[in-house]
Amino acid sequence: MIEMTNISKVYQMGEKKVEALREVSMKIEPGEFIAIMGPSGSGKSTLLAIMGCLEIPTSGRYLFDKKEVSNLTDDELSLLRNEKIGFVFQAFHLLPRFSALENVELPLIYKKVAKDEREERARRCLEQVGLGDRIEHAPSELSGGEQQRVAIARALVNSPRLILADEPTGNLDSTSAQEVMDILSLLNQDKKIMIAVVTHNPLIAERVKKVYHLKDGQLVNEAK
Ligand SMILES: Nc1ncnc2c1ncn2[C@@H]1O[C@H](COP(=O)(O)OP(=O)(O)O)[C@@H](O)[C@H]1O
Ligand SMILES: [Mg+2]
Repeated sequence: MIEMTNISKVYQMGEKKVEALREVSMKIEPGEFIAIMGPSGSGKSTLLAIMGCLEIPTSGRYLFDKKEVSNLTDDELSLLRNEKIGFVFQAFHLLPRFSALENVELPLIYKKVAKDEREERARRCLEQVGLGDRIEHAPSELSGGEQQRVAIARALVNSPRLILADEPTGNLDSTSAQEVMDILSLLNQDKKIMIAVVTHNPLIAERVKKVYHLKDGQLVNEAK
């Protein structure tokens, strides 16, 4: 479970302060799928980066599975990120010279998992996103939607508790966008993974239980 209380984030830009988030409080229950919406610059990516322990809030409390994140050391933070959180970005971020399978294996290489197990787990994740027949393809040999599904498989390969997706359908046509959302919904079906997705697409937001709206760094309401 994720619990944020009065989270603020201030960026200092020379003389100027940018208040990217102001007193944001939200909870994500185990297995919950939420969407975050809001205009450009409203703090969506900052909120996701804090949830993903990539950024530390300026103030406020952030509990991840009951643990206060700001008390963790850098090593503990990267462990938490690697073991429990999967990231999906708008621009896929796949390595072009590697196959789909190798791209999905990458997080396991960093963890020094043996080759056979790596391949097996990566293959299973690619099957989970419907790409069992594309494992040897390079990113350039895949459609945008397929590339994003590879990125989702890569996010899954460490069996995360939380998947964070920042505008995952922003570069996709509407059919591929629906496919990506279908897969995220499917992953959420057994309620083991929490998912937070930033989106501009109201059709996508419509598919999740709870939508949070940000404006100027503040939550304006959480009801759908
Ligand atoms: N690393 C940073 N340094 C300074 N300002 C930043 C940084 N990241 C984001 N901001 C500012 O914080 C605000 C929120 O940004 P962001 O979270 O990226 O919004 P969104 O994802 O909703 O477009 C913006 O005004 C942005 O310019
Ligand atoms: Mg953003």
